[in-house]
Amino acid sequence: MTECTSSAPVIAIDGPSGVGKGAVSAALAGSLGWHLLDSGAVYRAVALAAEDRGLGAENAEPLVALCGNLDLHFRAHSGGISVLVDGAVVDDRLRSEAVSRTASKVAAIAQVRHALLALQRSFRQPPGLIADGRDMGTVVFPDAQLKIFLTASPEERANRRYKQLKDKGEDVILERLFSDIAERDRRDRERSVSPTVPADDAIVIDSTSMSLDAVIERAMAHVEAKGLGRS
Ligand code: DC
Repeated sequence: MTECTSSAPVIAIDGPSGVGKGAVSAALAGSLGWHLLDSGAVYRAVALAAEDRGLGAENAEPLVALCGNLDLHFRAHSGGISVLVDGAVVDDRLRSEAVSRTASKVAAIAQVRHALLALQRSFRQPPGLIADGRDMGTVVFPDAQLKIFLTASPEERANRRYKQLKDKGEDVILERLFSDIAERDRRDRERSVSPTVPADDAIVIDSTSMSLDAVIERAMAHVEAKGLGRS
């Protein structure tokens, strides 16, 4: 295992797709003034760079080599964080269906996950890190000071996603979103490498019938109870 690069505190926010991890993580990072790691964006960046190089997700070896040389940067701006791969801003492509599909295949390869450990751990810098993902509390930062695992029913997550996409003017079918989410959950939970499960010492928050603000408030209460944050 790669050594941790720093002893700065870490708060791990894990959970399945569409549960609001990104929004909760960004709110915590903003209010604490800590760094933010979107580990899903790391897997998406590998998938995108692989596509650009004509690499499929079948062979681990070239993907592992790519992880070692990944030209990936996050740039903070007033509207959020932009992702740069090979020097170009790739925010829109990163969320495309094609990249999502490849990212999920790439993320199931044990050697790729291992090759990305050091990169993810390098985000652990003072004053602290909010780490958003699936295995932040179980594998990447097992010594995190606080581990929160967010859940919500697949129906509720499909409803939230439906609303988001409709608001963006996209044409979507709720039943299709629901079956995609249920299928992805099953794959993530059952994969042999870093399955999406709560760490033994994680606090589980079921947000099915909670507003985003209420989830953030609950998470902040746990942060304060641990004595983490601005001193
Ligand atoms: O959270 P997301 O949808 O941006 O994640 C993209 C892909 O990467 C998705 O297939 C889940 C996977 N992933 C993972 O396996 N482990 C992580 N820590 C984060 C994401």
